[in-house]
Amino acid sequence: MAFQLIYSVALLLSLWSTARCDFFVEGVLQMECHDRYFMIAVDLAATGGPRFEAVDGTGTYAITEDYAAKCGYSINVLSLLGLVEFRASYFSCHTEKDDGFSFRFNLITTYDGEDVYYALNKTCSPSLPWSPREVTCEVNYMEVSVRSELPCPAGFSDDWNTLEPLYSASTQGWQVTFQNLDEQLPPMNLSKARREGYVFDLAHDRIVFRTPYGQPESYSTEVNGVPVEVVHATLFLRQSWVAIMVDMIAACSMDAGSYHSGYMIWDTPEALYPSLGGTQISLGLNGKLGELAAAEQKGFIMARYNSTVQIGIPSNAEGGYRKSFVNNGIFEFYIFNLYLKQTSVDEQHEETALRFHRTLVTPLLPSSLFTEDQTDVAEGAFTVYLGKVPRDVELTSLQLNGQEFEVPFSDANTYTLTEFSKENAAMLHKLDINYTLKAIPGNDPYYYTVSVKALIAVSPPSFDASCTASGIDFKLAYRSFDYLWDISIGSDRLTPALAAEHGYTMSNDSHSLLLSVPLFTHGYKYQDITLKGFLGTFTILVRDHNTSEVKTSTIKTCLFNTTELIVCSTNGWMTVVTDLAVVLQSGEIPTIHLMNSRCVPKEVDGTRVLFSFPLHSCGSTVELSKGDVTYQNKIYFVRYENVSEGMTVQCIYPLASLQRLFSIHKFESDKEGFGNIIPFVTSTKGVQTCTTTEMTTTVAPQRTRTPSLHLPSFYHTARHVKVYRVRNKLPYLKKGTKDAMQEMRLPRF
Ligand SMILES: *[C@@H]1O[C@H](CO)[C@@H](O)[C@H](O)[C@H]1NC(C)=O
Ligand SMILES: *[C@@H]1O[C@H](CO)[C@@H](O)[C@H](O)[C@H]1NC(C)=O
Ligand SMILES: *[C@@H]1O[C@H](CO)[C@@H](O)[C@H](O)[C@H]1NC(C)=O
Ligand SMILES: *[C@@H]1O[C@H](CO)[C@@H](O)[C@H](O)[C@H]1NC(C)=O
Ligand SMILES: *[C@@H]1O[C@H](CO)[C@@H](O)[C@H](O)[C@H]1NC(C)=O
Ligand SMILES: *[C@@H]1O[C@H](CO)[C@@H](O)[C@H](O)[C@H]1NC(C)=O
Ligand SMILES: *[C@@H]1O[C@H](CO)[C@@H](O)[C@H](O)[C@H]1NC(C)=O
Ligand SMILES: *[C@@H]1O[C@H](CO)[C@@H](O)[C@H](O)[C@H]1NC(C)=O
Repeated sequence: MAFQLIYSVALLLSLWSTARCDFFVEGVLQMECHDRYFMIAVDLAATGGPRFEAVDGTGTYAITEDYAAKCGYSINVLSLLGLVEFRASYFSCHTEKDDGFSFRFNLITTYDGEDVYYALNKTCSPSLPWSPREVTCEVNYMEVSVRSELPCPAGFSDDWNTLEPLYSASTQGWQVTFQNLDEQLPPMNLSKARREGYVFDLAHDRIVFRTPYGQPESYSTEVNGVPVEVVHATLFLRQSWVAIMVDMIAACSMDAGSYHSGYMIWDTPEALYPSLGGTQISLGLNGKLGELAAAEQKGFIMARYNSTVQIGIPSNAEGGYRKSFVNNGIFEFYIFNLYLKQTSVDEQHEETALRFHRTLVTPLLPSSLFTEDQTDVAEGAFTVYLGKVPRDVELTSLQLNGQEFEVPFSDANTYTLTEFSKENAAMLHKLDINYTLKAIPGNDPYYYTVSVKALIAVSPPSFDASCTASGIDFKLAYRSFDYLWDISIGSDRLTPALAAEHGYTMSNDSHSLLLSVPLFTHGYKYQDITLKGFLGTFTILVRDHNTSEVKTSTIKTCLFNTTELIVCSTNGWMTVVTDLAVVLQSGEIPTIHLMNSRCVPKEVDGTRVLFSFPLHSCGSTVELSKGDVTYQNKIYFVRYENVSEGMTVQCIYPLASLQRLFSIHKFESDKEGFGNIIPFVTSTKGVQTCTTTEMTTTVAPQRTRTPSLHLPSFYHTARHVKVYRVRNKLPYLKKGTKDAMQEMRLPRF
């Protein structure tokens, strides 16, 4: 509301500055004739605290505080609005009261230490007929005017009798005598009264009396509990045997107002002046008078009790001003410029119109800020609303758990909570907010603090997994609390070192973890191996950081194309897929078998074959060396009677993982074996019934190789599976052993 007013004033200013009307001088916003006063509104900022001079035919008169109260002027600085409102009574000292009421003033402003004068003038004629008696209770003076045709003298007979002894017949001209509660003061002539601060005047057939508040001749009393200030002056003129007396009583409610549950309350006695059957009220704010009914529609209330009229102005009344104030809390107060007219009729049916100008200020009212925690745990972010922040209070900064942030927040301003504690399966997040608020204008900060908590259920992370042509990719978007878990492959914790050791590709930052596990690396399990394809399964375990207990796992199985592979399973089976085209010279497919010729391929597709057989069967040889156990067999076929060709297939198990090898009949390994497929060509005498011993003796030493001797070191990293391709067919028949081996292209897994 206050803002709107300020805004409209600013708008007025800008209108006037663009459409300069000669009539208005700089800083003057408004010159207005009201029903009983003339008003000049001046922009406070533009004039920097203006001064006024009254001008009439006799000269110019500086309007000081005292002079204003005596002569019927009031200067009201409305700093909240940036305005100075100057009011002049129609009967003010220097008004030319001929046809209408002509006002002339000098407005004096100071620019760069120099006074600048602006002459302002306006003539008003009151739109409203004068009541027989009119009383104005201005902020700084009381003014009474009465019709000068005298009322029936009978009413004054008592006064006359009491006054009579005080005056000698020689008394000349008008005299005035004041009466306070219990005594009659000696009379004085009008010039003396004027020196005392009282002004009597005769204008427009009315006798005018004006007095500042707090004069020695005034008295304060209470009428039905309402404080009232009264100046009772009796004006008299005695000429020969005729005496004229005029009773001038200025009486005003001095109630400063009080504040009750949203209303500024102001009281005035019903019968400050004699009233027959109550008074009529009209009222408004900022000099605007309206009918009571209209005011009541705007939320004003009027009540009569105990012979008192009580006015209630709602704190949000249009035309009221509101201001926030920061001092160990946020407070607000309201200012209302009440204008009220109370009309009464006495027994002679003579009307008295009583007008009040009252500036009513509420006490500092504590402003109750509140916060509403609208945090949605699912969003993973705190949402806290700060409510009831007055319009003229600004949030200037805030602290989150002690860390300072400027407002408004920018997107760059993200704050991640680091303080939290774990409670069972939930995390308790706590956010202490310390808001810094300032009233504008103003610099005093007010700190408003609130602490909010969010209990977030925590679950172990689970990876997104996807199949690629050469392996499986795992992805994990970190949540703030994912540090509670360890990630492991089998029993080994996943670390950059472990990833490097096993040939995984890992990238890890504070936001996410990406892990690519190529096919045939450590951790894979294989199933459903056929010549068309096989299933590879990789498992990532999530363990409790403290207890290593497995909390969850991500298991991903993908279908891969079968090229060449050898799987040495923990339960003692060797599964081999190989392409004999490597060693076949022509496209013909001979009979293919293992060393035991009854062991034939499970599947054949062109030159590709799949064998799957128990390690101990099909004529395999077993060899113990250097802590390893090697099972070896041969995929065998005969081209010429005297030449055998084929592939040596091996599964090598660390002896340590086979501790039960010789005590328990069943094969059982802790780990999968490590396999080789090695082409060979050998000369024999005809087809053999391939027994172990025969094969051992018939293998040409120069053409079989043990991987430990000849294979490059990285060969060992592919512990479970060995697959390779050979570029040229049968290089072994043409070249030496070493060269032939170098021709082998080892897979890049
Ligand atoms: C009153 O003001 C008007 C306009 O500013 C001016 O023309 C006129 O002379 C003034 N009258 C007097 C009596 O100063
Ligand atoms: C008014 O009274 C004072 C004394 O109280 C006196 O000095 C003065 O001359 C009187 N003025 C007139 C105009 O009678
Ligand atoms: C009503 O008026 C009487 C005096 O007439 C006063 O003592 C009393 O306090 C008033 N009551 C209220 C509620 O103000
Ligand atoms: C809020 O911040 C202010 C300024 O840093 C500090 O003086 C005040 O103690 C803080 N309030 C709380 C409750 O931490
Ligand atoms: C598997 O082989 C088929 C046919 O050769 C091919 O279309 C497909 O893309 C291969 N898949 C992968 C994952 O390599
Ligand atoms: C990923 O990086 C974070 C530090 O940013 C570290 O705490 C975590 O152990 C790393 N995770 C792995 C699997 O290396
Ligand atoms: C895990 O260990 C940390 C540090 O040793 C300890 O602060 C925390 O309370 C432990 N959490 C649980 C659930 O045991
Ligand atoms: C194998 O026999 C063929 C004829 O049958 C002969 O030409 C060849 O030299 C023999 N090769 C070996 C290595 O004995």
